[in-house]
Amino acid sequence: MNKAVRKAVIAGNWKMNKTPAEAKTLIEEMKPLVADAKCDVVLCVPFIDIPAAVEAAKGSNIKIGAENVHFKASGAYTGEVSADMLKEAGVEYVVIGHSERRTYFGETDQTVNLRSLAALNAGLKAIICVGETLEQRELGYTETLLKFQTKMALTNVTKEQLQNVIIAYEPVWAIGTGVTATAEQADEGNGYVRTAIAEAYGADVAETVTIQYGGSMNAGNADELVAKVNVDGGLIGGASLKAPDFAKIVAAASK
Ligand code: 13P
Repeated sequence: MNKAVRKAVIAGNWKMNKTPAEAKTLIEEMKPLVADAKCDVVLCVPFIDIPAAVEAAKGSNIKIGAENVHFKASGAYTGEVSADMLKEAGVEYVVIGHSERRTYFGETDQTVNLRSLAALNAGLKAIICVGETLEQRELGYTETLLKFQTKMALTNVTKEQLQNVIIAYEPVWAIGTGVTATAEQADEGNGYVRTAIAEAYGADVAETVTIQYGGSMNAGNADELVAKVNVDGGLIGGASLKAPDFAKIVAAASK
């Protein structure tokens, strides 16, 4: 990682786990364990947990994120939550285009782009997820796909707004499977993303963008992954639900 221009960001993605009361307990447990972090620490939690999480994280170095955001400002969109609603609730980050949203909820590259623009226009930091399936990897499409997804997600995003963008490279085959990409595969995937940003915005700008790796990152493999030049931290699923494990990943990214 180029520590001269990029700070690592370790973000937990709790997915559909933890009630508000459980969120409070877990954050209270995490606070002292991550207090000395030299990276940014974010927890992206279910919508219903946001007030409890914001309250529990108050006065600490933990920032709270959401797991999705709708692209319209308001209106007849049952079940959706707007960027302004998140902002007012104390949210600073939002995960967009996670592969679970793409696979189970019909998220497309176009809606990922619209959601990213809505988040950025509201002043939220967008953690945009990209990643190939095993089939796409085996067919040799990884580079093409990662570049395409990255450029689509960033359509109409300005150079200034890019400073509030984090891209998370999450190979679909590594999510929740216990199969982690090798450090070399993670570095290569993140490198494709950085090249796509360079093609769209210039190499200097691309050097400043935080690109995370996500997919079975845990306390045991985080050191090796975040040591790679293009891996600026991680987006952590399962291991972000256990305070000691998450703290070890934060420590790895703080070296
Ligand atoms: P796991 O860490 O559980 O594989 O999940 C990764 C992920 O999807 C983070 O967004």
